[in-house]
Amino acid sequence: MQLKHLITIIGLTCTVAVQAADLKELRIGTDATYEPFEFKSPDGKIIGFEIDLANAICAEMKRNCVFVESPWDGIIPSLMAKKFDMILSGMTVTDERRKTVSFSDKITDIPYRVIVKHASGLDGSPASLKGKKVGVQKATTEANFADKYYAKAGATVMRYESTQDSYLDLAAGRVDALVGNLVEMKMGFLAKPEGKPFEFAPYEMKDQVILGYGTGVAMRKGDDELRSEFNSALKTVRVNGSYKKIADKYFDFDVYGK
Ligand code: ARG
Repeated sequence: MQLKHLITIIGLTCTVAVQAADLKELRIGTDATYEPFEFKSPDGKIIGFEIDLANAICAEMKRNCVFVESPWDGIIPSLMAKKFDMILSGMTVTDERRKTVSFSDKITDIPYRVIVKHASGLDGSPASLKGKKVGVQKATTEANFADKYYAKAGATVMRYESTQDSYLDLAAGRVDALVGNLVEMKMGFLAKPEGKPFEFAPYEMKDQVILGYGTGVAMRKGDDELRSEFNSALKTVRVNGSYKKIADKYFDFDVYGK
């Protein structure tokens, strides 16, 4: 290669590198065990609907998104400790959490459901699970629901670090039912070979105080400028069709809800 070409290439590379570094980093905490929202590809990359969406929103905000992994049950304390600037992790907006953090506008709204083994005769209601084991991810809205309704009806509530861990126990017969996000249970488990013997039970959970108002991005209270910048970029991707384009890659229904 001629020297002058080499110099041109080095020059171009430097310009690109400087531009990327110029964008102020936006650090986003996530528990990447929640397919298809945030999970890992076989080669360990964090991928998913919310990751693609965050990248589109960051492009609007002219920020460089950096994803920081966090175990779910420590994710709010880590936000408070400034390990990242926001949480994007399928987090349900509840009044209880609003005492600690502030939320963006809505990201998704997905119902909760129960999964059981085919022909188990369990309809998923608290009464049907009396004396049975019900699994949930620790520190979630569904865990609060299970404590209030299933434990009260005489079920034993089993808490797991991640939904992935709960799927292993369900497949091994160590737990009778799991409660969680309909889409994550469907795409992260039921649609896979190990999920074949299981199905959704008909019972539908209702308790808005516990189950909240859909999901949002959590930020530290007082980060009002960040929240309004994020919300306005979210609005842009909703209006310009980017949200829908990304959602269509993952879902055949509307995850945004009404
Ligand atoms: N929606 C539930 C909650 O907010 C569970 C979300 C879990 N998300 C995750 N990425 N593990 O409590």
